[in-house]
Amino acid sequence: MKQDKTEDQKSVDVQKKNITKEYKTEDLIVFWYPAECSHSGKCMKAMPEVFNPEKRPWITLASADLENIIKAIDSCPTGALRYKLPEGSKIDPNKAKGPGSVDYKPDATTAVQIKAVKNGPFLVRGPIRLIDADGELIKESSQMVLCRCGLSKNAPFCDGSHMK
Ligand code: SF4
Ligand code: FES
Repeated sequence: MKQDKTEDQKSVDVQKKNITKEYKTEDLIVFWYPAECSHSGKCMKAMPEVFNPEKRPWITLASADLENIIKAIDSCPTGALRYKLPEGSKIDPNKAKGPGSVDYKPDATTAVQIKAVKNGPFLVRGPIRLIDADGELIKESSQMVLCRCGLSKNAPFCDGSHMK
């Protein structure tokens, strides 16, 4: 049976989950939450010139079309990528209201949808509150990718281990 975590272990877990990386231009701020990334590669396929894990930093916003970056972030399945418009941004705010926006709120009346990916995770969509065994809130979001193979080192989130 799985042993209960000590308070120290819990605190390390919380710190790991809270790491946020920030990438800025005058018109767009992008956030990346590594602990939530399932390494699906969708962002890299959409814009390899912007999202490139071989480079440091792995996200480069300069000289790319920022509205296309917003679209790529809106299609991130886990919510590991997010964006917001800084004050004075030249981007039309109506084009920055998708699920990748930090201010995005899903319609509370929408039914939650859970889709099993063949040999992969559960894709969850809707207004979601994920609660741990102690009743503590792990994450509140409109999208999550949850491990169903048991191999993730970042359970309950999928970390891409099912692909190895
Ligand atoms: S989960 Fe999101 S940030 Fe991670 S690789 Fe996939 S699209 Fe990119
Ligand atoms: S389903 Fe992706 S790590 Fe388990």
